[in-house]
Amino acid sequence: MIKKCLFPAAGYGTRFLPATKAMPKEMLPVMAKPLIQYGVEEAVEAGMDVMAIITGRGKRAIEDHFDISYELEHQIKGSSKEYLLQEIRALINRCTFTYTRQIEMKGLGDAIYKGRTLIGSEPFAVLLADDLCTHTDGDGVLSQMVKVYEKYRCSVVAVQEVPMDQVSKYGVIAGKEIGEGLYMVDTMVEKPDRDEAPSNLAIIGRYILTPDIFDLIEKTEPGKGGEIQITDALMAQAKKGMVIAYRFRGRRFDCGSIDGFVEATNFFYEQSKKEG
Ligand code: G1P
Repeated sequence: MIKKCLFPAAGYGTRFLPATKAMPKEMLPVMAKPLIQYGVEEAVEAGMDVMAIITGRGKRAIEDHFDISYELEHQIKGSSKEYLLQEIRALINRCTFTYTRQIEMKGLGDAIYKGRTLIGSEPFAVLLADDLCTHTDGDGVLSQMVKVYEKYRCSVVAVQEVPMDQVSKYGVIAGKEIGEGLYMVDTMVEKPDRDEAPSNLAIIGRYILTPDIFDLIEKTEPGKGGEIQITDALMAQAKKGMVIAYRFRGRRFDCGSIDGFVEATNFFYEQSKKEG
């Protein structure tokens, strides 16, 4: 069983300045819910209850969000607005939240490595909260990936086909298709140029990682952008053993960009109107 989900949340969110000047980008709301809460809900749906959050300076609001505000509870108790706190209260009751800081921004691989003491030596999930994923029927993306993990017992990355002119924004994989939407990875490149991309299968911010990844990250040299890339550590893992890429069912919004964020907002607004 996978119980722990790691949330790299130390980035500056410069694309959302000035909104993110004094507020973590993970707290930006789509409708009335912060991005990171959608992520935690997806992890809970997949059976996880320990949330390991990699924070940084200026991210205190995340810790406060997953805690009780006695003043607010006192104010709202018995009022018509109390129901608005139901979901977050349930998450706080159910989950344990652990935190550690990434001191310097040295890449996603480094951020994940910082979670080593929070994770220990068990398989775990990684969720990038600005990739907001939805599913209108069936399981959430992490739930789907847990099923894949249970079958293959190796690291699993979520992928999605993207237009070729977008590949340079992502980690890109290639491999042998071993089942419907399942690839045994043989190549993985972080943000390749269009003409060097091995395919148009882009990694989306959902991973299940086996704990040997930590030793591999330790050995990973800085790659694209001079940063320690999880994509490179996963490539090493694929060479040594096996990594599966999984083309998930559902829709993903890139809430790290204004366009994706607005699309997500419109989508959830329409959904809420349908649900009444
Ligand atoms: C990170 C990863 C990249 C992946 C992407 C998904 O990049 O390094 O491989 O495709 O997340 O969102 P970032 O968007 O943090 O630059």
